[in-house]
Amino acid sequence: MTSGLTIRPAAPGDLQAIAAIYNEGLRGRGATFETRERAAADVAGWLGDPRHPVLVADDPGEIVGWIAASTYRTRECYAGIAEFSVYVASTARGRGVGDALMAAFLPACEAAGLWKVLARIFPENAASLALCARHGFREVGVYRRHGKLDGAWRDCMIVERLLGEATIGVEAGEDARG
Ligand SMILES: CC(C)(COP(=O)(O)OP(=O)(O)OC[C@H]1O[C@@H](n2cnc3c(N)ncnc32)[C@H](O)[C@@H]1OP(=O)(O)O)[C@@H](O)C(=O)NCCC(=O)NCCS
Repeated sequence: MTSGLTIRPAAPGDLQAIAAIYNEGLRGRGATFETRERAAADVAGWLGDPRHPVLVADDPGEIVGWIAASTYRTRECYAGIAEFSVYVASTARGRGVGDALMAAFLPACEAAGLWKVLARIFPENAASLALCARHGFREVGVYRRHGKLDGAWRDCMIVERLLGEATIGVEAGEDARG
């Protein structure tokens, strides 16, 4: 891992860097269906929700990545489930930043009362799938032709990770935790 890297909760002063890193990932066309670039004001609403942790990787003084939980569904029965996104600046990828972010994020989600985090990942996104596998996510299955990006159909792999109480009683092998 990058020496001196700190993982900490995001603050308003990080919003510009968060948006810039997101936009870089979006332009790469390997991470998301989104094509509209974001400004700091667009991501400001991500902060301040105690159920949805947002962490940044501070290198130090330079934000090189972030990970954020967001609403899965608004129905109360799903209140303990969050989706997440993780983005690392291209110059900092492959050095363990995503790993460090995820290692801090999962306990933060558990402490926030979540029982599951999940994501939809393009099956071609080997780095993202490897990161999730390392942290005990289960590959649930592939949504076929889940949307179009630049006019081309793309599939999505769903990954899920149980947290806290939800891990109790899950048969060995069904949850790769630990
Ligand atoms: C996905 C992403 C967050 C991973 O962060 P990172 O800091 O580059 O990853 P790390 O260095 O912590 O490595 C995590 C794992 O991914 C693997 N990995 C990293 N880059 C890889 C690549 N280009 N191809 C395949 N595997 C890769 C590492 O080997 C490691 O796996 P291991 O634990 O089995 O050794 C980062 O590459 C990124 O921001 N990509 C663009 C945005 C994106 O796709 N976000 C995810 C949207 S779902």
